Amino acid sequence: MTGVAPANAPAVGTVRTPGVTTAESPLLEVTDISAFYGRVHALKPTSLHIGRGELVTVLGPNGAGKSTLLRAITRLTPASGRIAFEGRDVSGLPTHRLAELGVIMVQEGRGLFGQMSVRENLILGAYTRPGGDMDKQLGRVFELFPRLKERIDQISASLSGGEQQMLAIGRALMAEPKLLMLDEPSLGLAPRVASEILATLGELNRQGLGILLVEQKAPLALKLAKRVYVLSLGQIAAELPASEIRSHHDLARYYLH
Ligand SMILES: Nc1ncnc2c1ncn2[C@@H]1O[C@H](COP(=O)(O)OP(=O)(O)O)[C@@H](O)[C@H]1O
Ligand SMILES: [Mg+2]
Repeated sequence: MTGVAPANAPAVGTVRTPGVTTAESPLLEVTDISAFYGRVHALKPTSLHIGRGELVTVLGPNGAGKSTLLRAITRLTPASGRIAFEGRDVSGLPTHRLAELGVIMVQEGRGLFGQMSVRENLILGAYTRPGGDMDKQLGRVFELFPRLKERIDQISASLSGGEQQMLAIGRALMAEPKLLMLDEPSLGLAPRVASEILATLGELNRQGLGILLVEQKAPLALKLAKRVYVLSLGQIAAELPASEIRSHHDLARYYLH
């Protein structure tokens, strides 16, 4: 029976075979992802990539589609298009399977369990790592955010806004992400607290974590990121090195103060 391809053979022209991880493939590669709410085309076909160990920021005004983009990538919102993670096509996987692979999102509004303690919220973050070393992970989170350790038995609803954001990030870290995506983590926080939290993201990135940071207007994010996507009206209006924002007057006026 020569000449008959096995049923599971990759289609002719497939560049990356699912399941094969290559060192050169980006951490995340999104191709033509697109999402609707009813008849509203909130995210027009959008492509982006994040390299391994890279921190990329997505900026855009309110309503631009930033949250929809993150929700589409993590499959919290139905979307068409292709998503590859570490070179593997993961387009068909649901949110929890992506989480198991290491794609973790900190949602806008933090999504904490308000009536549960700091400890309980953190432990729930590790649900995708049932065999993991819980104490080691908790220790890592407390090293980054000592204030969470001081408040370990406090009900999370009673934390300050900054502490709640720290807890949301800490809970995401309990899942041992390879790619951490954050939806406006500085929203509603005092500048000093926002800057402290973003500095911690910079530290995590220096340790090798890939980060996709969504912010609305964020000089702080531009200091951390090397590369920026600007989202406007549901599509990417610009992709450029963060250092070049200054030379684009319209972008600089909007994003640098
Ligand atoms: N659940 C929803 N139902 C209908 N429209 C929505 C929903 N969520 C967002 N939208 C619309 O989609 C567009 C993009 O929203 P969103 O992704 O939340 O933008 P951003 O996060 O950049 O502020 C906006 O026009 C918004 O009104
Ligand atoms: Mg949003």
